[in-house]
Amino acid sequence: MAGVELRSVSKRYGKFYAVRNVSLKVEKGEFVSLVGPSGCGKTTTLRLIAGFIAPDGGEVLLDDVSMASVGVRNRQVGIVFQNYALFPNLTAFENVAFGLRTRKVPEEELRSRVEELLAMVGLSGRAAAWPRELSGGQQQRVALARALAIRPKVLLLDEPLSALDAKVRNSLRFEIRRIQRESGITTIYVTHDQEEALSISDRVALMNSGEMEQIGPPGEIYLHPANRFVADFVGVNNLLEGEYLGEGRFRWREHLLSVEDVPLEAGPAALMIRPERLVLAPSEEGADNRLTGTVTGRVFLGPLLRLAVDVEGEQFLVDLLNTETAAPSLDDRVSLTFSSSDARPVGNTGKIPG
Ligand SMILES: Nc1ncnc2c1ncn2[C@@H]1O[C@H](COP(=O)(O)OP(=O)(O)OP(=O)(O)O)[C@@H](O)[C@H]1O
Ligand SMILES: [Mg+2]
Repeated sequence: MAGVELRSVSKRYGKFYAVRNVSLKVEKGEFVSLVGPSGCGKTTTLRLIAGFIAPDGGEVLLDDVSMASVGVRNRQVGIVFQNYALFPNLTAFENVAFGLRTRKVPEEELRSRVEELLAMVGLSGRAAAWPRELSGGQQQRVALARALAIRPKVLLLDEPLSALDAKVRNSLRFEIRRIQRESGITTIYVTHDQEEALSISDRVALMNSGEMEQIGPPGEIYLHPANRFVADFVGVNNLLEGEYLGEGRFRWREHLLSVEDVPLEAGPAALMIRPERLVLAPSEEGADNRLTGTVTGRVFLGPLLRLAVDVEGEQFLVDLLNTETAAPSLDDRVSLTFSSSDARPVGNTGKIPG
C-alpha cells in the first residue's frame, strides 16, 4: 500500500509551474527525502500533500484514498517546519498536547501520550519548559513530538534541521530516523543537503524546476545518476565534457576512453568520475584509462586527502585515504587511472521515475 501517492500532480502560479507533472509513490512506513535546489518546488509539493493548496492537475492519494475532496484537518498529516513554530505561550508539554486537546482526548490518556512522546525525543525532564528556555535543537524535538502526537498517517518535514548548527543537525537527523523507524510512519523529508538525504533515506527523490529528475535508493542516485543535473547535484564529482561514441567509448579531447556501456544515444555528453574512484598509479600497470597531470592543490578532509590535479587545463579532484603514506606533493606529476566501470557517461536529459 502506498502511504503517499502523487499522480501527475501540477501546481501553477499564473503561467509558472511550481510543480509540474510530478509522480511519486511512497510506500507505507517508507522514509523518502525530497531534495533539490532552492525554488525547485519542494515546499509546494509538501503543501499539496498536506492540503494547504490544491493541484491544478493530477491527484494526491493518502493510503490509496484520493484526497481531492478532503481538507487539511481531515488528512491526518503531521508537519514540522524549518523554524520551530512552537506556540511561545505554551510549555513543551502543552505544545505537544495541543492537537490532542483540540481533539478532546481524555486528560489521563493525553498525559501518558505526551509523556511518552517527550521521552521518545529525549525531553522527559523539560516538560514544563517554555520554548524560549529551549535550544534550537530541543525546540525541533518538541515540534517533532507535537507532529507525532495526533498519530498522523504521514509525517512531512520541511528542512527541520536547517536552522541548527552542523553538530546538532548531524545527531538529530539520525534521531529523527530512529523515531521514524520505531513509529513506522510514512515520512517525506525535505532538505537542501544531499549528504543528509543520502545518509538517512530509504529513497531519495530529486527535483529540479518543478519536475522530478530521479527517484531511487541513495546508492543508485549516487552511482547511477539519470542525467547531468543529478550527477552535478549529488556529491562532489568530476564531469568531463565530451562525446559519447556508444558501446562504452567516450572521447574527451584527444583521449579515447573506455567507459560504462550505458543506454545513451551517441553524441555530446558528460563523463562522470567520482573523486574516490580515481587511482594514482605510479607504474605502467594495467588500467582501462590513464591520464597524466600535475598536482595543483591538497586539502585535508579528516579521513580523506583531496587532491586537485590539472590535466591539460581541466581540474580533476582525487580523494585518497589519509592512511596512504605516499601521497604526492604540490607540482608532482601523477598518472590518474580509472576503470571503465567507474566512468559513467550522462546526458543532458533523461529522467528515472520511482
Ligand atoms: N504562493 C505563491 N505564489 C507565486 N509563486 C509561488 C508561490 N509559492 C511558491 N511559488 C514559487 O514556486 C516555486 C517553488 O517554490 P517552493 O517554495 O516550493 O520551492 P522550494 O523547493 O521549497 O525552495 P526552498 O528550498 O528555497 O525552500 C518558486 O519559484 C516560488 O517562487
Ligand atoms: Mg521550501
